[in-house]
Amino acid sequence: MATAAPKGGIFGRVKPLDAILATAEKKSLKRTLGAIQLTLLGVGCVIGTGIFVLTSVGAQKAGPGLVVSFVIAGAVCIVAALCYAEIASMVPVAGSAYTYSYAVQGEFLAWTVGWALLLEYAVGAAAVSVGWSNYFTDTVLAHSLGIQLPPWLTAGPLILGGLPGGFVNLPAGLIALLMTWLLMIGTTESARVNAVLVTIKIVALTAFVILTMPAMHGSNFSPFMPGGVFGGFGSGIGVVGAAATMFFAYVGFDAVSTAAEETKNPQRNVPIGLIGSLLICTVFYMVVAAGAVGAIGGQPILDAAGVPLITGSPELARQCALPQYTEMLVCSREPLAHVLRTIGFGAVGNAIGYAAFIALPSVVLILLFGQTRIFFVMARDGLLPEKLATVHPKWRTPHIVTAITGVGVAIGAAFFPVGQLADIANAGTLYAFLMVAIAVWQLRKKDPTRHRPFRVPAMGLVAPLTILGCLFLFFNLPAPAMLVLPVWGVIGVVIYYAYSYRHSYVGRGIIEVPELAAEAPANIGISPLPGAPVPPDDRD
Ligand code: ALA
Repeated sequence: MATAAPKGGIFGRVKPLDAILATAEKKSLKRTLGAIQLTLLGVGCVIGTGIFVLTSVGAQKAGPGLVVSFVIAGAVCIVAALCYAEIASMVPVAGSAYTYSYAVQGEFLAWTVGWALLLEYAVGAAAVSVGWSNYFTDTVLAHSLGIQLPPWLTAGPLILGGLPGGFVNLPAGLIALLMTWLLMIGTTESARVNAVLVTIKIVALTAFVILTMPAMHGSNFSPFMPGGVFGGFGSGIGVVGAAATMFFAYVGFDAVSTAAEETKNPQRNVPIGLIGSLLICTVFYMVVAAGAVGAIGGQPILDAAGVPLITGSPELARQCALPQYTEMLVCSREPLAHVLRTIGFGAVGNAIGYAAFIALPSVVLILLFGQTRIFFVMARDGLLPEKLATVHPKWRTPHIVTAITGVGVAIGAAFFPVGQLADIANAGTLYAFLMVAIAVWQLRKKDPTRHRPFRVPAMGLVAPLTILGCLFLFFNLPAPAMLVLPVWGVIGVVIYYAYSYRHSYVGRGIIEVPELAAEAPANIGISPLPGAPVPPDDRD
C-alpha cells in the first residue's frame, strides 16, 4: 500500500496506526502468556546490576535513605508501566516506545525517542557488563580462586571515574562481546532459562535478607539522610539523587509490554505482569537496601564541608583506597557479597556473588537485544541505512547492527564506571517513558474510539504523574548525565537531517505494511517463550 507524501512537515510524518496494526496481525502470534509468565519475564529483565552493584553507589548518594530512593524510583516506574500497558496492548509491535511515538507524534519525535532508546539499551548493557565484571573479578577470581587481576585490567582510568591504577575493564568489555556474539549467532533466552535465572536471583536476594536482618542495628540508620533530600541541582546527591540513579534497577520492564501481543487476556494480564514485577522488585530492593545498610552501615564518605563526595569522582576513589574506608559499603564493588562477608557469612556471600556472575549476563543479552531491535526497526523505516538491518542468511539475525552495537557497548563497558553509565542510560530511558506517557494521553484524545485491550484507569492523573515523575528524576541526575541527553539529541538531529529525513519511507510516501514476520530476525522476542513469533512456514 502506498500513499502520497504526507503533509505538515516532519510532524505530519505519522505512520498510520492501521498500517502498524496490520503488521502485528501478520505476525499472528499465539496468545499463550499468562500473568505469572509475564511477571517472571519482567523480574528476569529487571533484577540486575541495579541492586547487585549500584546499592553502594546509591548509599554514597543517600546514606540509609537509599531505602526511600528505591520507593521513589519504583513509584515513577509503576505509573509509567500503566501507560506502557495501554499503548502496548493497542500497538503490540516491535520497536516499543519508538513505534508508539511514530504512530502518534510523528517521525521526528519518534526519531528522537529511538535515538534516546539507544542510550537506554546500549549504555544500559555497558553498565550491566561493568557490574558483572565486579563480581567476576572480586568474588569469583579474588575471593574464591585467589586470583588477583592487576587494577589496570579491571577498571577504567581514574580520570573517567575508574580506580587508581585503572586503565581498561577487560572482563566488562569481554562479556559484552561474548553476549554480542551469542546474539549474532541467534541465541535466545528460553522461558525455562529465564525461570531458572529468576529463581537464582530471588533465592540470592532472599538469602541476603534472611542473613542480614538479625544483624541489623538501628544505629546504622542514623543519620538517615546525610546527603539531604535534595543534594543540589546537578550533584546527583541526596535521596532523590539516589532515586534518579537507582531508577536503573527498574529499567527493562518495558520488555513485558512488548510481549503484550503474546498474552492471553491482555486487559488483565499485561498490567498484572508489569505492575506485579515492579512491585516484587520494589519490595526486594527496599529490604535488601535496608539489610545492607542495617548490617554494616551505609554512611557516605563526606568532603571537608560535610557533603557526600560525588560518586565516580577521583577523590572518592582515592578515599576508598585508604585502609580506614576500604571496608565501607559505599566503597564496595560487589556490595551484597561484601556485606555478608563482613558479618561472617563468607561462603553465602560468595554464593551470592556467583548468582550475580551467572544471572547478570542474561540482562546484558536482553538489553543488547532490545538495542538491536530498535536499530533494526529504524533501519526498516528507512531512517538508518537499510544495510544495517541485513539479516544473516544462516543465523537469521541482524548481524551487522548487532556487531556494531556490541563493539560500542564493549568500549563503553571497558572504560567507564558503572554509576555514570547507569545515569546516562537513565537519562535516555526517562525521555522515552515521558514520550510514551504523552503519546498514550494524546491518543486518547486523537483516537478515542479505537479498541483498547487495556485502559489506564484515571488517565488524566496517571499520564501527568508519569510525565512529572520522569522530569523530576531527570533533573535530579548528576549534571554530566543530564547534559548527555541534549548533546546526544543534537547529534541525532544532525543525522536525521543529513540522512533519515531524505530516506524515510513515510517521508517518501511509501507506507508499507512491512512483512515483519517474513523478514524479522529469528531471535526477535526474548523468547521462545510459549507463544513466541511463529515463522510464516510454521503457522497453522
Ligand atoms: N534493571 C537492570 C539492572 O539493574 C537493567 O541491571
